[in-house]
Amino acid sequence: MTAEYAENEPRPSAADGSAGSTLPRTAAVIPAAGRGVRLGPGAPKALRALNGTPMLIHAARALAASRAVSTVVIVAPPDGEAEVRSLLDAHALDGGGRTEFLVVRGGATRQESVRLGLAAVPADVEIVLVHDAARPLVPVDTVDAVIETVRAGAPAVVPALPLADTVKEVEPGPKGEPEPVLATPERARLRAVQTPQGFDRATLVRAHESVTLAGEGATDDAGMVERLGLPVVVVPGHEEAFKVTRPLDLVLAEAVLARRKANRGF
Ligand code: CTP
Ligand code: MG
Repeated sequence: MTAEYAENEPRPSAADGSAGSTLPRTAAVIPAAGRGVRLGPGAPKALRALNGTPMLIHAARALAASRAVSTVVIVAPPDGEAEVRSLLDAHALDGGGRTEFLVVRGGATRQESVRLGLAAVPADVEIVLVHDAARPLVPVDTVDAVIETVRAGAPAVVPALPLADTVKEVEPGPKGEPEPVLATPERARLRAVQTPQGFDRATLVRAHESVTLAGEGATDDAGMVERLGLPVVVVPGHEEAFKVTRPLDLVLAEAVLARRKANRGF
């Protein structure tokens, strides 16, 4: 935490461009352009509400809560740019404070959306986080732990948790048909990865310039860095950083918010 406290000390505002801190500047890119097919019919997933507040706003607040994050780039659903801008205003995330908020239009795949968001990151930023809008409840301590590890020299950092379930590799077959099992990886060596994933900016840019994947594209930015042959490290994730994917996840997310509210009441 020492680095965060150090950044708390009075320093020239980011906007005036003078050198007040030797810490590298950090931006977060939030891909929020997906439709949310697995969540079912309705508005684009990132615009769906949790306890009355859109998921995207929860996610943007979670990243802006880190004192290290000076810019948040939101990658909006196609045709959703204006709505995202007005949501940011309505929730007082208007860039009037310590954090600058930018909105760009997303693409057809997550990989494309991240690439478009990355292109909008200000030139003086050296560390970039990529965070799914669909992980609205990530605690700030997880965000800070990822940033700290990049600052300490890792080119790519991923928060992740051990798995509860045993995982089988199968030969995928038609839906509902029995599928032959090919292997059972040792569970203790597996991790389920979350976001924000943190990167040395130049490394992430290189990954997005050089790695092309057909179809759905990359579902994970760190995987693209692995393809460059560069090291990726895992730090502890958090159970509240789960991804809202299916309808039951909405129930869990609202329960987490209710628990937080109850805990604040004491
Ligand atoms: N995403 C994006 N652009 C896309 C697809 C996905 O910015 N073309 C974002 C989503 O908005 C989400 C994150 O990537 O915040 C993780 O993707 P996922 O959970 O798969 O969300 P969706 O693609 O929206 O959901 P689904 O796959 O069920 O349609
Ligand atoms: Mg998806």
